[in-house]
Amino acid sequence: MLVTQNITEIRQARWADPASTWGLVPTMGALHAGHISLAERAVAENDKSCATIFVNPTQFAPTDDLDKYPRTLERDLEMLEQAGINMVFTPTPAVMYPDGFGTRVLVDGVTDRLEGEHRPGHFDGVTQVVSKLFNIVQPTRAYFGQKDAQQTVVLKKLVRDLNFNLDLIVCPTVREPDGLAMSSRNRYLSAEERQHATVLYQSLSQAAEMIENGERDAENIRQMIADKVKSTPHAELIYSSVASNLDLSELETISGNILISLAVLVGDTRLIDNFMIDGIEPM
Ligand code: PAJ
Repeated sequence: MLVTQNITEIRQARWADPASTWGLVPTMGALHAGHISLAERAVAENDKSCATIFVNPTQFAPTDDLDKYPRTLERDLEMLEQAGINMVFTPTPAVMYPDGFGTRVLVDGVTDRLEGEHRPGHFDGVTQVVSKLFNIVQPTRAYFGQKDAQQTVVLKKLVRDLNFNLDLIVCPTVREPDGLAMSSRNRYLSAEERQHATVLYQSLSQAAEMIENGERDAENIRQMIADKVKSTPHAELIYSSVASNLDLSELETISGNILISLAVLVGDTRLIDNFMIDGIEPM
């Protein structure tokens, strides 16, 4: 497995056999089974695969946890090698943003709500770095997790609007046995907080059940989620949303394809989760 910080080396390996298809798995490291599910899918569906590990400073706010972000490079590389990845791009900030760098990539509309509303500028950093990774690796397919649902909506729009010549593949959320979505941030939870962190999955499950049983008033779902989080120790709701999965606008009446999502502060740790539900019939 080639591991390099060097863009030229990545390009040379990528184009050594131009007929090969390549899968790309962008990550910020601190890998877990969720990331590895993306890597395995990229390996299975392409001749060759590339993972990237880069804690992208431009998608963190000054008050965010950039310095605290976990870095476990040795272990990450072992896991990627095990998954069958062929090369790993591990650039430094100076490689990605050298002196004089000054280009931004801004996607309108779908970036200003949900995560975007609460983390201003976050998606501008994501679209900036992912555009660079797409251009550096020029993959046939790029793999992203449903865990970050809004990120996939924003990136699909980026690919469409800027004509990136690749297929964007969205992979299901990998969960712990009790339903907690795997996340690099879970390691910050105390034992007690970890127990209460299941409130995200439990409220999403209850929302799905309510819809299954005929609930079509989106506000009732948002309110149920808020109440459930409120009654959970150590948990504070940041937002609960029932939105169209196309433009992420909040719904009044539930029908069609929807995204139910929430962000919760558990202790000091910010967790997000979502369910996508398709084909809901009007009652
Ligand atoms: P990161 O948080 O490291 O996530 C890398 C990829 O793994 C993302 O596509 C994310 O959705 C996916 N992922 C995370 N947890 C998952 C889980 N439990 N199940 C399935 N997939 C999961 O997302 C980023 O990095 C960055 O924004 C990045 C796209 C790399 C740009 O910097």
